[in-house]
Amino acid sequence: MQAMDGKALAAEIRTGLADTIRKLKEQTGRVPGLTVVIVGEDPASRGYVRSKHKTASELGINSRILELPETVAPARLIDEIHNLNQDGDVHALLVQLPLPGGMKTWEILNHMDPEKDVDRFLPVNLGRIMLNETSLFPCTPAGILALLDRYRIEVTGMNAVVVGRSFIVGKPIAAMLTNRNATVTICHSKTRNLDALVGEADLLVAAIGRAGFITADMVKPGAVLIDVGTNYLHDREEVEKHCSPIQKKRFEKKGYGIAGDIERAAYEKAAHHTPVPGGVGPMTVTMLMANTVELFKRQLNSS
Ligand SMILES: NC(=O)c1ccc[n+]([C@@H]2O[C@H](COP(=O)([O-])OP(=O)(O)OC[C@H]3O[C@@H](n4cnc5c(N)ncnc54)[C@H](OP(=O)(O)O)[C@@H]3O)[C@@H](O)[C@H]2O)c1
Repeated sequence: MQAMDGKALAAEIRTGLADTIRKLKEQTGRVPGLTVVIVGEDPASRGYVRSKHKTASELGINSRILELPETVAPARLIDEIHNLNQDGDVHALLVQLPLPGGMKTWEILNHMDPEKDVDRFLPVNLGRIMLNETSLFPCTPAGILALLDRYRIEVTGMNAVVVGRSFIVGKPIAAMLTNRNATVTICHSKTRNLDALVGEADLLVAAIGRAGFITADMVKPGAVLIDVGTNYLHDREEVEKHCSPIQKKRFEKKGYGIAGDIERAAYEKAAHHTPVPGGVGPMTVTMLMANTVELFKRQLNSS
C-alpha cells in the first residue's frame, strides 16, 4: 500500500516550471500570460480562480482575471473572448465553469481560440486526444498520468475502470489510458453491475462526487486507486465516516472536512492509492501551469 504524493510531485513540477519561465524570460524578454474569465459570484468558482491566480503569479506567469457580472449578455462575453484571442500577451485562456444558469457552455467556449484553450476542453482538443495526436491534456487527467509516471505504473494491458464520464475527467482520462494500451471500461449512473466491473479493475479512477462511494469490498486486491473525488462534508456523521484524522480536525476548526470517492479502508487492499486531499487535487492546478508554459512556447515558435 503506497500513497501517491501529489502534493510533493506538484511542488517539484512547480519548481521546474518557475525555472523554465525565468530562463524563457531571459531569452525572449517575455513571460507566459494566463487569463481566467469568471462570470458571476459563485464562491467555489471564485476560490478556484483565486488559487489559480496565486499559483500562476508565484511562478512568474503574467496572470490576469477578467471578472464579469452574472447578468452579462452572452454577446458581450463572446466579444471579450474574441479580444483575448487577439491579445498577444495572452497565451493561455480559460473560462471558469460552470457558467451561470441560462448560458449555454459550448456556445460560449467554442469562441475561444483552440490554441489558447489551456483546459484542453474544446472539441478539437478533445478530438486530438481521441486520435492520440497531442501531448497536451486537460489538467486533472494530465495530473493523473504524471502521478502514474512518477510511481512507474505501467498501464499497458491493465483493466482500467473509470467511474464518471464528465468531459473534464472521465472521458479524457479513459481515452488517455486507452492510448497507453490499457483496456478501459467507463461506468456512470446507468451502469449495471458496477460492483462486478469495479472488482475487475487493476486501475480504478473514481470521479463521481460522492464520498466513499467505492467501498473497500468492491476493490480488487493489489489495484491502483486514483481518487479524483473532492467532497466537502459538513455533517459530523459523514465526516466521522469518510475523512482522515487531519480532515476531522479541520472539521472541528472550520466546519467542513474533505473526503474522496473511495472509502479509506480500500487503501489497505491497494498497491497504490491517491489520498484525498493531497493526491490528484494539487496536480490539477500544477498541470494548468504546465499547459500555460507549453502554450507560450508553442506560440513563441509559431510567431
Ligand atoms: N481533484 C481535482 O482536481 C478535481 C478536478 C475535477 C473534479 N474533481 C472532483 O471529482 C468529482 C467528479 O467531478 P466531475 O466534474 O467529473 O463530475 P460530474 O460532471 O458531476 O460527473 C460525475 C459522474 O459520476 C457519475 N455518477 C454519479 N452517480 C453515480 C452512480 N451512482 N454510479 C455511477 N456513476 C455515477 C455520473 O454519471 P452520469 O453521467 O450518468 O450522470 C457522472 O458521469 C467531484 O467530486 C469533483 O469535485 C476534482
